Amino acid sequence: MKHKIIIDTDPGIDDAMAIAYAVAHPDIELLALTTIFGNVQTHEATRNALALLEHWGVAADVAEGESAPLSMPANEPSYLVHGSNGFGEVDIPASTRTKHALDAADYIIEASKRYPGEITVCAVGPLTNLARLLERDPDVVSRLKAVIVMGGAVHRKGNVTPVAEANFWNDPDAADAVLAARWPLVLAPLDCTMPVVFTPDFMQSVAKENPALGTPLAAMAEFYARFYRSHLGIGGCVPHDVMPLSWLTVPGAFRLQKGALAVVTDGPAIGQTLFQPGGTQSRARCFDGRPDHMVMVDTDPDMFLADYMMVMTRHAG
Ligand code: RIB
Ligand code: CA
Repeated sequence: MKHKIIIDTDPGIDDAMAIAYAVAHPDIELLALTTIFGNVQTHEATRNALALLEHWGVAADVAEGESAPLSMPANEPSYLVHGSNGFGEVDIPASTRTKHALDAADYIIEASKRYPGEITVCAVGPLTNLARLLERDPDVVSRLKAVIVMGGAVHRKGNVTPVAEANFWNDPDAADAVLAARWPLVLAPLDCTMPVVFTPDFMQSVAKENPALGTPLAAMAEFYARFYRSHLGIGGCVPHDVMPLSWLTVPGAFRLQKGALAVVTDGPAIGQTLFQPGGTQSRARCFDGRPDHMVMVDTDPDMFLADYMMVMTRHAG
């Protein structure tokens, strides 16, 4: 049985790495991309999603999401990290297709009614669309197979402030609502993404093994890696957004911890992830009534890298 997935995304270079993996993996059926602001503005994310899917010959739908956070003003997109076009200045031909008539939240509602219990939503941008989804149809929590979120930082520092990770920082109210909901959620924070580095040699190998998917990804990674090298001294780039997909296909590469989660929604620590391990108590009232979720707290980088390379190589035919 293939994994039916919808990726909620702000493409975005590591988003493109995740979309390519979903396209290449024989056990994944990519139903749709739903778009959100973050690395780019929402309309640019829609443009990029349509372009990627047509460039790679994939028939999945694209449904456009919210253009601003639930309540706070939008932050400036991460053009410094992902380039002015979201693809590290790599030119992907514009799509001739159009976005779906439904917006992101309504698309997921309709799809979850069409395939009750079968769809996994992989959210790899700010969580505004998922928060809107919960507002419009609270019963959706029982119709999705899983919600896997790339976001937050549990035992690690943040990447946009000392305590906040970008996706949570870009809409902390939405992130807090999503983590409070009683759906089968797995969180993939920086704790499981930062141990993995796509080096230039690795990306060149991906491009050699799979030119169609790998050549644009390797070119985008060059831009992305310059940011990591100059700001973090890392010899490559971190494929944050692939982790939710890899949890589905190679779960043995990850170590999990269970507990309740919340997000700071104002003040100097805005966007910080708060974690209370399962079975423990504390004076923090923010966890009252919240379910425990699974958190991916570490990754075996060798297992992850071997899987990514194998999937891209096998897909090349
Ligand atoms: O913090 C990393 C996350 O922020 C990734 O999803 C990346 O694409 C950016 O959206
Ligand atoms: Ca992203």
